[in-house]
This record gives sequence, C-alpha cells and structure tokens, in this order.
Amino acid sequence: MAKIIGGITTSHIPAIGVAMDKQLEETPYFRDLFAIYPPIREWLGEEKPDIAVLFYNDHGLEMWLDKKPTFAIGCAPEYQNADEGWGIKPIPPVTGETELSWHIVNHLIENDFDPTVCQDIKVDHGATVPLTLLWPNFTYQGIKVIPISINCERHPMPKPSRSYAFGQAIGDAIRCWDSEQKVVVLGTGGLSHQLDGPRAGILNADFDNWCMDKLVSNPEEILQFSNVDLIERGGAQMVELAMWLAMRGCIKGEVEEKLRNYVSPISNTAVGVQLLLPKEA
Ligand code: DHB
Ligand code: FE
Repeated sequence: MAKIIGGITTSHIPAIGVAMDKQLEETPYFRDLFAIYPPIREWLGEEKPDIAVLFYNDHGLEMWLDKKPTFAIGCAPEYQNADEGWGIKPIPPVTGETELSWHIVNHLIENDFDPTVCQDIKVDHGATVPLTLLWPNFTYQGIKVIPISINCERHPMPKPSRSYAFGQAIGDAIRCWDSEQKVVVLGTGGLSHQLDGPRAGILNADFDNWCMDKLVSNPEEILQFSNVDLIERGGAQMVELAMWLAMRGCIKGEVEEKLRNYVSPISNTAVGVQLLLPKEA
C-alpha cells in the first residue's frame, strides 16, 4: 500500500518566487526565510517521495468568484503554470499521477466528499512557488504531483473542521491505494496575512505560533475556530490555514516536528514552515 512519509507546510508568496528567480536568497531580507529550505530539500533527497499531494488555493486563475468549487482535485497527466501576473517567470509543466487522483476521487465520493474533478487545469503561485521552493531548478519534474484546491477566496468557504476532515479522507485514500509508492503531503499558504482593505498588513505572531504548535500536538484544537475567527485573529487570508489542516488531516496519529521556521513578514505575510513526520509506521 502507498505510504505517507511526511507532511510539509510552506508559504506560496509570489515575492518568494521572484526572489528565487533573481537569486536574492542570501540577501538580508530573505536570508532567514530561505535558511529552512536546504535541510528540507536534504530530507526530500534522502526519502525520495514518488508523489506530492499538494493542497493549494487557486487565487483566481481557473476558479474565480463566478465559479468556485469548494474542493477540487487535479486528475490531469500534466499541469501547466499560468500564474496571474506577480512577475514570477513561467516554469515547465508539472507531471500528474492520474491513477492516484482517480483513486482519491472515488474514495472521497464513497466517503461523502464530492470534489470537483479537474482533468484540464492550470496552476498558479499557490502550487508553483511551493514546488519551486522544495524542488528548485525544475527538479520537481522528477516527482508526480496531485494538486488539490480548497476555496479560500469567496465566502462561504469550507469550515476549518471540514478541510481537516477532507484531509483525513484523502489520507485514508492514499493509505489504501494498491501501490508501493511514497507520498509527501504539502500544506501551502498562510499564515496570518491580509492583502487588502483597512486591515491590510495585519500579522499575529502569537496566534501563528499557537497554530503551528497545535498542528503538531493536537490539531483538533484548531478546529474550534470558524473562518471568521481566523480572519479576526490573522486577517482575511489567514483562512489559507485550510491547506495546512488538510495536510495534517492526511497524517494519521501523532507526528514528530523535525523542522520549523517562522519569519514575519515577508511581503505582507507571516511565513511558517514545518516538516512533520508520522510517528505511526
Ligand atoms: C501574498 C500572499 C499570498 O498568500 C498571496 O496569495 C499573494 C501575495 C503576499 O504577501 O504578497
Ligand atoms: Fe495566497
């Protein structure tokens, strides 16, 4: 059966993609942020996952306010990058894993989740920045990727508890897939940030760190919060925590936190990064 070997949370701020394009990783502004990625890449290089299941949000590229699936799953053999214009260079396409995608779809529908199935979909910075960060110089082309999107743009959005349960169902699907392949799960976006309106620029380090602590020790405690609670504490885009919760839901039982970083702000956003390893074999 397929195995989930670990979970990673990472930001998807477009400015990070631009910084990589311009080789600004060692500049004072970006140095602390980028410091966490070499050890994570080292772990990925040692463990060699075959597949990355990537929870992201489509910020308006394919799913805008007029058509907004709550949960959608990529079932395509390939995903082209078509970021919506933050200045990141386009990158080569990402390879899909259609067999596992369809297995997850079937399992979800059997278990009362009904995602939108996307056989032809482009991905934005929500997917490409994390992939480029974790597998730089286009080495993400050596793994297969399943992008799974959660609505973080238009209300009503799925409750945090629902995104967590969605992740749990996907974790179960991966674990019952008849394959010997290794899977890493990625929760992208977050943490506290708000990009527009009177509260633009809001950050909340105390709440961010509480969320990171609980993601390790007791993720269900985070589920007491509604999306409005998250917005009050961490700004309108704090709802991107949905992807972190889905990632953590995939991993059954306790986890060991192998690596963590927190740098705030980069651009407008508090950047949290964690590498979590399942304790259960
Ligand atoms: C920024 C953060 C995001 O989550 C995003 O999608 C776009 C921009 C930012 O902080 O610049
Ligand atoms: Fe975002």
